[in-house]
Amino acid sequence: MNGSFLIEAFQAPSSYAQNLGNFFNDLGVDPYLESNCRFRAFSQYQKTNDKFEKLGTSTFMQSSDVNRLIGNVERKFEDISPLLDQHPDFQNLLKAFLERTNVDTSKQPIGVHQIRVVCSQDKSGSPAPEGIHQDGFDFVGIFCVKRDNIAGAFTQIFSSPVDQHPHMSTTLEENQFIIFNDRRYFHYVTETLPALQDKSGLRDVFVFTA
Ligand SMILES: [Fe+2]
Repeated sequence: MNGSFLIEAFQAPSSYAQNLGNFFNDLGVDPYLESNCRFRAFSQYQKTNDKFEKLGTSTFMQSSDVNRLIGNVERKFEDISPLLDQHPDFQNLLKAFLERTNVDTSKQPIGVHQIRVVCSQDKSGSPAPEGIHQDGFDFVGIFCVKRDNIAGAFTQIFSSPVDQHPHMSTTLEENQFIIFNDRRYFHYVTETLPALQDKSGLRDVFVFTA
């Protein structure tokens, strides 16, 4: 592991969110949350030559040490769309994640969770229902593709799970990418509510793990 990397946030070109946004409209519902407020796909990628190639259908499991809500459960989601795999902007996001983290993808493939969280006036959305947590990897990245009529969803980084105040609390705007050391920090994303109450809101992100 590259232990020296701690945290970095940066802005990608504004065309990324525009080009990648449509890939979130057909996501299947996350069957592991009762609320039906989360939609999700998951795949893993390895770097071969100059491209990132998807591994076969992948399942995802977190130990109950890091996920008290759905720990030690093998979760199966739809694969990320093959059209998205090959999209140059998506490939560039994988490249940006690899450049910071320097993982050997032949040993530790990069997991990508494609996630939509929706909310309405009477039903808040929970991007991180497990609370302040680690994902159980060396590195985690979150790239925001869309915030539509959303209040809340502050991305927060903590030094410990019992900290009263986050080390960092920020709104990850569209086209912003934050990458951090998951061994060093804990993270949380606050609940979402619609900014305008009479219509629903949604937030689309990619979460990278390695
Ligand atoms: Fe997480």
